[in-house]
Amino acid sequence: MSKFPEGFLWGGASAANQYEGAWNVDGKGPSIFDAFCAGSATKNREYHTEVKEGYYYPNHEGTDFYHHYKEDIAYMGEMGFKTFRMSIAWSRIFPKGNESEPNELGLQFYDNVFDECAKYGIEPLVTILHYETPLYLANHYNGWYSRELVDFYYHFCEVIFERYKNKVKYWLTFNEINCIAIGNPYMAGACRAIDGKTVDQVTYQAAHHQFLASAKAVKLAHDKYPQFKMGMMLGGLFFYPHTCHPKDMLEFQKMNYQQFYFCDLQCRGYYNNHAKALLKSKGVELVMEDGDEEILRNGTVDFLSFSYYMTINASATTNPELKLAGSGIASPKNPYLTATDWGMEINPEGLRYFLNELYDRYQLPLMIVENGLGAVDVLEEDGSVHDQYRIDYLREHIKVMKQAIEEDGIDLMGYTSWGCIDCISAGTGEMKKRYGYVYVDRDDVGNGTMKRYKKDSFNWYQKVIASNGEDLD
Ligand code: BG6
Repeated sequence: MSKFPEGFLWGGASAANQYEGAWNVDGKGPSIFDAFCAGSATKNREYHTEVKEGYYYPNHEGTDFYHHYKEDIAYMGEMGFKTFRMSIAWSRIFPKGNESEPNELGLQFYDNVFDECAKYGIEPLVTILHYETPLYLANHYNGWYSRELVDFYYHFCEVIFERYKNKVKYWLTFNEINCIAIGNPYMAGACRAIDGKTVDQVTYQAAHHQFLASAKAVKLAHDKYPQFKMGMMLGGLFFYPHTCHPKDMLEFQKMNYQQFYFCDLQCRGYYNNHAKALLKSKGVELVMEDGDEEILRNGTVDFLSFSYYMTINASATTNPELKLAGSGIASPKNPYLTATDWGMEINPEGLRYFLNELYDRYQLPLMIVENGLGAVDVLEEDGSVHDQYRIDYLREHIKVMKQAIEEDGIDLMGYTSWGCIDCISAGTGEMKKRYGYVYVDRDDVGNGTMKRYKKDSFNWYQKVIASNGEDLD
């Protein structure tokens, strides 16, 4: 049987905004997600400019990692995690985002978390910014559209790198950096369209500032902390051609290039012909300063990480009905795949295709830092949760990872499935869309004890890790 490499980083992933809670505790300021009220994905769910009376904000409590971190990390230790992906809430360290002095209580919290991880031999993998730009920066600077955020972010990095230099080795500069350009510049960039500018102009300018910020952080790490491994994180928007019609093939290529744009900038460090063509086609004129090109070239990442949940069919059709059936994004249904209850089309083989595609393009170590099945779980009276569907989903993806390593020679560093302890959904704000190995007693409107329960997948994943991916039954 094939083997995952020694030291393969098995684990789970989370994000401060969806998991930590304690949104205004110990000096933390609000992030944009703290002002994102509940509602359904399409109705009444909106970002506010301030936290208002009379609304429910699910991320305020998340699933309270802040007060359960010892218990939760013990569960991770029991499963045998080698790594735990988490983010540092910027507004816990700098409540407004632009202060010069950090909040010591915030820094202390992450010291406690990293020390707890160390007890179990768990290597933290830290996302520096996971959809949680401080609300103040959104309101006063229009978020990442303002170039000033590059300096604020850099200072945040200076502080956390120095503080945690002996505790954290693996870093991701931005979560799903490409998601800024898929119709939600606010979630990923904390910026809104402004008068006289197109959404594309604002979005791609904000993305340019994120590229600069990432490159500067990577350069700082490489110069001062050579032990660090710095990664980028691509959101899993991976396209298949809907048919072999020549126009669908071109659409498929175009849609994938729109995502690779972000890898090209962070892994290769420059705006190539595809990037320039994309900007031109969208009528975007980037404002760049002298020295920007050099910053980008000097700050390319050490590894490429990405999320993978589904594939999306790209079609040149203009029939709006055809475009509404597939994986969330306007896309036709793939007739060969089944979908989750939330419409994501499940495609393990697609993971192999894109592992190959990404490795071939960038020749950098890869890491899957999100994958998993969002499903409604039932907590039985005896405290058990039978989530065989999740085991089946994860097993098929892990099998494919193994093939990609063994048969294709892909350099895959690790795998952290999403939401290892249940947390709030980013996309819908729901609690009932669960991904974890550990069930948290909490519902969509804020009821529940926050008590934790192991699901069947807990024991299964424990075996997977103990056998280094050999025992998948
Ligand atoms: C990724 C995000 O897009 O998908 C996570 O990085 C998110 O923050 C995850 O939670 C799953 O999506 P959702 O909408 O089901 O929470």
